[in-house]
Amino acid sequence: MSSSDQNIQTPQNPNNILGGPDLPTGSAEMWDKRYSTEELVWSADPNVFVRDLVEGMPPGTAIDLGCGEGRNALWLAEKGWKTTGVDFSRSGIEKAKQRSKAMGLEVNWIVADLSVADLSKNWKKELTGVPPGFDLVVIAYLHLPNQPMRNVFKLATELLNPGGHLLVVGHDISNLEHGFGGPPIPEVLYSTELFATSLGNIQLERNEVLTRTVDTPDGERQALDTLAWGCKP
Ligand SMILES: C[S@@+](CC[C@H](N)C(=O)[O-])C[C@H]1O[C@@H](n2cnc3c(N)ncnc32)[C@H](O)[C@@H]1O
Repeated sequence: MSSSDQNIQTPQNPNNILGGPDLPTGSAEMWDKRYSTEELVWSADPNVFVRDLVEGMPPGTAIDLGCGEGRNALWLAEKGWKTTGVDFSRSGIEKAKQRSKAMGLEVNWIVADLSVADLSKNWKKELTGVPPGFDLVVIAYLHLPNQPMRNVFKLATELLNPGGHLLVVGHDISNLEHGFGGPPIPEVLYSTELFATSLGNIQLERNEVLTRTVDTPDGERQALDTLAWGCKP
């Protein structure tokens, strides 16, 4: 499947992706700095695969892990989903909060670090008041080293209600050589093999590499994303 995406997953300066001392794709402070601009770093509209897969589903409860400035969470809330957005960047969450306020949308925004080993401890107090399970978990372009990434996938599975859907999309490993944008760090990129081995409790309906067309100042470019879509039995 190929898709056109006006929603550039690559910021103005793709070299700016590094910078954090703790994580190869950047610390919370680095992301705070990046989000502390008037303009959006990412697009206002949702990611094209999130939109295509979720549009038409009956709304329920949803959580977006690594929500950034909230484009996917805001779109879900607009579609009637009772939505929670989580990110470790305070300024990303602040921006998302301002946007939801301006749009008249209720979204539960949480600042939390998803790379910590024991997520449940970190989350217990944050999730007070949030429904115990979700009908949809979205992870979009959240790239962490192998073990923390697997921990996030495990958390995502735990957060899902039986019958709930998981959508993971991000830059594929093949994007390094053959695609546009994304972090130039092989160990944080996705692959269908990573999804096949780390989403064991999800019945995967889709696990594939997709082409996304990106509009750049220099014209259209192609990005290669890995997409997983499945259901918790
Ligand atoms: C490339 S952006 C994608 C944002 C959003 N999902 C989207 O598609 O627009 C990656 C996001 O992951 C967040 N992030 C990175 N590491 C994180 C961590 N350890 N815990 C929580 N959020 C993290 C960053 O702050 C950033 O907002």
